[in-house]
Amino acid sequence: MTDPLAPFFLGAYGENNDFFEKTLIELVRDHVFWRRNFHPEDEPPIGTHDQYTRAYLDGLARTRRELHQLTAALKRSVPSFHPRYLGHMVSDLLMPGLIAQLVTTLYNPNNIVEDVAPITVQLELEVGRQLARMLGFHLDAAHEPCALGHLTSGGTVANDEALWLARSARLYPLALRDASQATGIWVPDVPVGASSTDPELLALGADEVLTLARRVSAFCSREPRGDELFAALTAARVEEVGLAAFAARHPTLARMVVVVPATAHYSWRKAMNLLGLGGASLIEVPVKQARLDGAELEAVLEGLRREGRAVLAVVGVYGTTEFGTLDSIHELIEVRRRFPGFWLHVDAAWGGYLPTLFRDRQGQLMPREAVREGFHYFPSERVYRATAALAGVDSVTVDPHKLGFVPFGAGALVVRDRRVLDLVQQEAPYVFTSPPDEDERRYRKLGRYILEGSKPGAAAAACYVNHRVLPLDHAHFGRLLARSVQTTERLVDRFPALQKELAPWVRMAIPIEPDCNLVCLAFNPKGNRSLKAANAFGRRVFETVDVRPDRPVQLKEFFGSCTTVPLDHLGSEELQRIGAELQLEVGRPDDTGLFLLRHTLMNPWLQTSPGPGEPSYVEAYCHFLSRQIQALLPGSE
Ligand SMILES: Cc1ncc(COP(=O)(O)O)c(C=O)c1O
Repeated sequence: MTDPLAPFFLGAYGENNDFFEKTLIELVRDHVFWRRNFHPEDEPPIGTHDQYTRAYLDGLARTRRELHQLTAALKRSVPSFHPRYLGHMVSDLLMPGLIAQLVTTLYNPNNIVEDVAPITVQLELEVGRQLARMLGFHLDAAHEPCALGHLTSGGTVANDEALWLARSARLYPLALRDASQATGIWVPDVPVGASSTDPELLALGADEVLTLARRVSAFCSREPRGDELFAALTAARVEEVGLAAFAARHPTLARMVVVVPATAHYSWRKAMNLLGLGGASLIEVPVKQARLDGAELEAVLEGLRREGRAVLAVVGVYGTTEFGTLDSIHELIEVRRRFPGFWLHVDAAWGGYLPTLFRDRQGQLMPREAVREGFHYFPSERVYRATAALAGVDSVTVDPHKLGFVPFGAGALVVRDRRVLDLVQQEAPYVFTSPPDEDERRYRKLGRYILEGSKPGAAAAACYVNHRVLPLDHAHFGRLLARSVQTTERLVDRFPALQKELAPWVRMAIPIEPDCNLVCLAFNPKGNRSLKAANAFGRRVFETVDVRPDRPVQLKEFFGSCTTVPLDHLGSEELQRIGAELQLEVGRPDDTGLFLLRHTLMNPWLQTSPGPGEPSYVEAYCHFLSRQIQALLPGSE
């Protein structure tokens, strides 16, 4: 039976090269004809005779030589397309998107604004709708909240932008009260009055703030002294005065924090630096089994409340970088009912496409029983509930360049209520040549509303074509992710046998049970009790699967990745359990982290075998690990 995913990848051996090459040539020619037919009456600026001069040929020769040198050097690249690659969050790329990206680059659209990218800006907004639908957000433009998604260069920038938007929305009511106080102009029917306190205004939810901001805009454009209030409001906002001056005026904000799980990606620290909040105001909540739950979050928020520290945003992670674990988003939503006001963002840079497994063709959430078909463990009740709860958060980061299988340079931020973008709107008369439209077409002037400026329309085209060929539902894109999760389950099921086989040499553990498609392994040579020595051994195992710039990649059988998890990220109970499993003494003063061999199981062909009668790549990898470990610890019995 033909593998349903077979037509969609170039393939480890370039199996689909005929199609790939033919289509690419066809579309490149099509592009050239487009150039020729634009104004065919014009003389070609590069004269035909010029093309036979020595200088001209020399220019071509230099170009060719450099390109050949480039591609020769690129042969030392990481072979992430191959099922022998189980390392970082990358795999072979979906061919429809790859071709779309290569071909669209010829047209070089800049998705800063539709005037210079009339097609790809619309594709980008459509990709945003596809992602928003997959997350369960509302998309009816006639009713607020209506979601909006757009592309970024990656997850880091999407996270930055989420925090930028959160800051804007959360502090807006305070600026409004300041502006009203200064001008004596009060907007009727909004929850901002002369007696409103800062804590009361900070307890307003995103929907309330965005509704009130629209009312304020309408008031300012309608009422006789509206311009005066608008000018005072603009001058009072954090975007204008800066965080230090704003906090000086509002002492509750002086020690404002952002709350993340201890497992959060390091991009959150960058975002804090960037916004002037400072790394010290990033509060890390302890996790259990690398997952954030409501109880831990609540305890931290309670403490912050006692200290009088305002919470700008809480971040949940849907797919941690180190373990692929998913936080209990449903519980975070519950906690927000008791601690109203904070912006709830989900960093789903890694796991963002997993919801395709949960949505039917109409975009409806499927019952858990239907999602479970074909899996041994996935999805747990908790994972199911966390996924269903995504629809209730304020914003989500999703990285198409990870589980979306598109080339690097494509992250995404999806907001549940697009009105938040209006709060950060910028003017630049040379780019945005007309005033903002009144309806949703305004967002086609993307650069006015987002953090980045010029950006590749080609990335939008890649995502769009992929999502059209494989819509973001269970029956289409979900198939690809199902394969990845199933492969992970095979490896997990195979693990006890591997553990047993290697017991004479080494103790092994999967320290954190996976939620989706990432598995880490920890090692300890038999008889050793020191974590330091166990980590040193783990590093030697990793050297058998690492990429060395000075060694041809063909000399390696398999590729993995590694990480060192700080012990306090694991939690003391967890640490005791892992320590017992590995027969390690953990907790010495110089024990700081646990070294892990990390596997991202994205490649759709990990369960096929390299040759007839041979074991699958997953199985072969287990044999390989076993051989390497025995070679590293000869006769340690
Ligand atoms: C959970 C999470 N958030 C954010 C990022 C940052 O994404 P990017 O590398 O695309 O900037 C990553 C990257 O691995 C991630 O795993």
